[in-house]
Amino acid sequence: MAGRILLVGCGHMGFAFLSCWREEGWAVDVVEVNEGRRGIALGLGACVYEDVETLRASGRTGDVEMVVYCVRPQVSEDVVCGYNFLGEDVIHVSVMAGVGLERLASFLGGDRKWVRMMPNTPVLVGKGMMVSMGNEELSAGDREKIDGWYGGCGRNEWIEDEGLMNVVTALSGSGPAYVFYYIELMGLLGESLGLDSELSEELALRVVEGAAEMVKVSRAQGVGVRSLKEGVISKGGTTEAAFRYLDGEGVGLREVLEQAVTAARDRAEEIGS
Ligand SMILES: NC(=O)c1ccc[n+]([C@@H]2O[C@H](COP(=O)([O-])OP(=O)(O)OC[C@H]3O[C@@H](n4cnc5c(N)ncnc54)[C@H](OP(=O)(O)O)[C@@H]3O)[C@@H](O)[C@H]2O)c1
Repeated sequence: MAGRILLVGCGHMGFAFLSCWREEGWAVDVVEVNEGRRGIALGLGACVYEDVETLRASGRTGDVEMVVYCVRPQVSEDVVCGYNFLGEDVIHVSVMAGVGLERLASFLGGDRKWVRMMPNTPVLVGKGMMVSMGNEELSAGDREKIDGWYGGCGRNEWIEDEGLMNVVTALSGSGPAYVFYYIELMGLLGESLGLDSELSEELALRVVEGAAEMVKVSRAQGVGVRSLKEGVISKGGTTEAAFRYLDGEGVGLREVLEQAVTAARDRAEEIGS
């Protein structure tokens, strides 16, 4: 790719993309209002601007091919409107939770190319999961370009039903935090039951890492997660004792997760309305 990537907002999600793209050798310009965050972007070799006016004045936007909006959804309209001056061929990508394609397109008007994408922060280690949907202006060639830019960040899946985007947000956009919390809680629990705190968290981490790897390998062999789970729950054993609570009537993990994921999905819908 000859052109440049323009990243607007270099917070938690933007930083993950920037790290990944710089690792891949892409040229990235960053607009970030926060001075500390600008310093971090500069350290990764990006060209950095404090606002859109400074970027414009630099006269360096002629070869921008893709602009990625990584700011909070609450400021989406104010921020996106400032990039109206970019050429018609530029691909606009929004990772802002809840903000729909029609609304995004209305910010700039015209026949702009838009992608609504939901990533997650494991992009930072090249293991992100992105789910994307494009508007009618986005060609097959544009999709290929997107897949190329995001290839080193993890895996990108395209969907056609925008109604599912908020479900993806609740499952995979927010998902890493659920797993971090699990590791944190298991670490603390082990500690409260007498284990060394470092060992306790290491056990929790290794369980998640090893179990995830097993799911990957077993799926390729046609073995599903349920069967893997049953392989650990021996009759009359320790795991079965634990599952009396995890799978207990009315108060099990399933109910807790169902409420949590539904709350996240509903919040994404609320943000977008
Ligand atoms: N974090 C995640 O795990 C995750 C996952 C999936 C999707 N997302 C989406 O990614 C977006 C960003 O989330 P985040 O967690 O990275 O938020 P964040 O850490 O708050 O980062 C946003 C950054 O954008 C800066 N900013 C605000 N206005 C700006 C402007 N006009 N131009 C340039 N920069 C500006 C903010 O500066 P100030 O703080 O000084 O305002 C901040 O540094 C959200 O829309 C979210 O829905 C996040």
